[in-house]
Amino acid sequence: MSFAPLASIPAPEPGTGPWPANLACTEGKLTLAGHALSDLAVRGTPVYLVDEDDMRSRARAWVDAIGDGDVYYAGKSFLSPLLARWMVEEGLYIDTASEGELRTALAGGVPGEKIGLHGNSKSDALLELALENNVGRIVVDSPGEVEQLADIASRLGRVAPCFVRVTTGVHAGGHEFIATAHEDQKFGLSLATGAARDVVTAIANHPNLSFLGLHSHIGSQILDPEGFAAAASAVIAFAGELTRNGIAVPEVDLGGGYGIQYTGEDPQPVSEKQMLAGIRSALEAACAAEGIDVPRLSIEPGRSISGPSGMTLYTVGATKDVMTDDGVRRYVSVDGGMSDNIRPALYGADYTALVDRVTDAEGVPTRVVGMHCESGDIVIKDVSLPGDVSRGDLLLVAATGAYGRSMASNYNMIKRAGVLAVSDRGTTWLVRPETWEDVLGLFPEL
Ligand code: LLP
Repeated sequence: MSFAPLASIPAPEPGTGPWPANLACTEGKLTLAGHALSDLAVRGTPVYLVDEDDMRSRARAWVDAIGDGDVYYAGKSFLSPLLARWMVEEGLYIDTASEGELRTALAGGVPGEKIGLHGNSKSDALLELALENNVGRIVVDSPGEVEQLADIASRLGRVAPCFVRVTTGVHAGGHEFIATAHEDQKFGLSLATGAARDVVTAIANHPNLSFLGLHSHIGSQILDPEGFAAAASAVIAFAGELTRNGIAVPEVDLGGGYGIQYTGEDPQPVSEKQMLAGIRSALEAACAAEGIDVPRLSIEPGRSISGPSGMTLYTVGATKDVMTDDGVRRYVSVDGGMSDNIRPALYGADYTALVDRVTDAEGVPTRVVGMHCESGDIVIKDVSLPGDVSRGDLLLVAATGAYGRSMASNYNMIKRAGVLAVSDRGTTWLVRPETWEDVLGLFPEL
């Protein structure tokens, strides 16, 4: 969490800590892959920065760890056509969950076969788009979707490749809003009530549908393999039952949810290799117990690839000292806030930050806040920053690459920030910053 004297900002090991591998402190200035942040800020702040090579290496680590299996990058965490292309270059597939995400992946030239499609409420238009583009898997999420998909597939003369999302009852990870496998929520089909069995059987019996496998996603910010292992056992027990009833289960997708460190004080997740080793051994043991072949494994990490590689660079505006019961708290406002990172307001998420300036000032308890008209517009609730932080300073917030830009809004009519990819080969916009024409152009002319 707390302020590290700039002279000793460590270049973290890839995959550890909240900062990406190529952030450094060179001659008292923060640099990303050799580019001074102050130079990058000239194009305007707030801006999301992405350490391209860090993100690519996180993606590759999952591909290496899964070995004989497939990694679907969860585009909901953050997606752009170029980023989708990077992921495919690194050997990943793309997991999409809406028409916009599917169109974005296709715009990046990702072949349909390398795209998976999720959604608890898919429109006819979305399913048509998916089938017309030969999407590799459509994850069925409700009983009515079987008929809906079968009708569209028949009309188009296609066979729809189906997974079935099951709720295993395993509940892992963080906030209630991001936990997904318990019974009383909107996703998936229950193993307990038999809903999953009915849907798989209906798919297996329909000539325009093909049953490829089972899917489970148990939550977010999960740091060790136990929850996934429990989910794998439940899924494989069901696969055993299906196999005995004549329905083979060629593949199992255990979803995403692999946790990251947002601050230096957060516990460190296990490595990709350890995570997959734990999952694989549970999968193999469960298959041995059921007497079935081990299905092909896939996973859908999002945050653990895009999260720590991305940061937000803000410019400091107003500062003020406010009396609290415990003394004085310094409020430091930045030129963004809940419009570029809703996670503190929505989940109470914690972050950490660095100031891009050499200073001897002591750290003081600071709350970093945004410029929006809400007192809940908090960027970092509690962080120690140098006492002389003032207007014009650059502030860099760690680990905002996942669910930052992808959940951004135009609240208070702000222009949404761009996402700049940075490497030692140069810089390129993954998403360009919005202009006033973008924002005002939505209104009909008067
Ligand atoms: N697969 C499925 C089916 C999912 O529902 C999700 C996330 C993922 C993969 C990727 O999970 P990840 O590896 O990124 O944790 N807005 C929340 C997170 C919502 C996650 C929804 N589903 C947040 O900011 O924490």
